[in-house]
Amino acid sequence: MKDKKIVIVGASSGIGRELAKICAGKGAIIYLVSRTESKLLELQQELGEKSFVQPMDMLDETAVNETFRQIGEFDYMALTAVADETKLFSPIKSMPTEIAHRGMEKFWGTFNCCRAAANYISKEGAMVLTSSIAIYKPSKNASIMNAASAAVGVFAKALALEIAPTRVSVVAPGVVGTGVWTQEETENYKEWAKKTLPVEHLGTPQELAYAYYSILTNPYMTGSITNVDGGLTLI
Ligand SMILES: NC(=O)c1ccc[n+]([C@@H]2O[C@H](COP(=O)([O-])OP(=O)(O)OC[C@H]3O[C@@H](n4cnc5c(N)ncnc54)[C@H](OP(=O)(O)O)[C@@H]3O)[C@@H](O)[C@H]2O)c1
Repeated sequence: MKDKKIVIVGASSGIGRELAKICAGKGAIIYLVSRTESKLLELQQELGEKSFVQPMDMLDETAVNETFRQIGEFDYMALTAVADETKLFSPIKSMPTEIAHRGMEKFWGTFNCCRAAANYISKEGAMVLTSSIAIYKPSKNASIMNAASAAVGVFAKALALEIAPTRVSVVAPGVVGTGVWTQEETENYKEWAKKTLPVEHLGTPQELAYAYYSILTNPYMTGSITNVDGGLTLI
């Protein structure tokens, strides 16, 4: 990773933020991307001079294309961005179309970034996209978000063929204590994880970030979906 360029979309919080710290420790040149410039600037202060701030909304096609044009050629991309996911739960019989469309934002954001990134990413490089363990254990009233996560998985496998030898893989996180959850929800999940999960603790964003780092830098991994879920799929 030393002196390699990595673009992290979703860098201002959770998994993306921890991955940025790991990559900084390995001497990478890091492009910190999300919508909120102030949060990215704060992280940049922590990471030092080899990090750059690129505010961007992944749902804005023009902004995405322009951001990747500005970054130019690069080696790695990690995509961990999602917004309001836990606020979009809705039973199918009464699901408003607006919620249905918002539920697919994760896929469209992923698509926009990958389409732009494919023009600039190195042949020796790699992308890691984010799905969810919900593709194996779906949540009730979250049909649309679960479908978006499944779409990311198949999309990544198709891309792994299409843009080879550049590698494309996916992480499917279980429950992780990040900005996705409120403080109260995180506390409840900590209790639940202690009693329920084989690993007896809630996933941390750092534990997830190490998985992204490992997959990005493993030259024999492509087209794979890796569960990082504390054993949730076993129970
Ligand atoms: N945490 C979990 O329990 C869990 C479980 C299963 C799957 N996942 C998956 O993990 C990913 C989320 O990672 P996380 O848990 O680390 O979440 P997080 O802490 O909420 O971070 C989400 C990041 O996405 C950015 N973002 C949101 N909308 C964006 C947009 N339109 N354009 C660009 N950036 C945007 C946010 O920054 P700004 O607000 O600055 O834009 C933030 O940096 C999602 O794919 C989610 O489905 C998480």
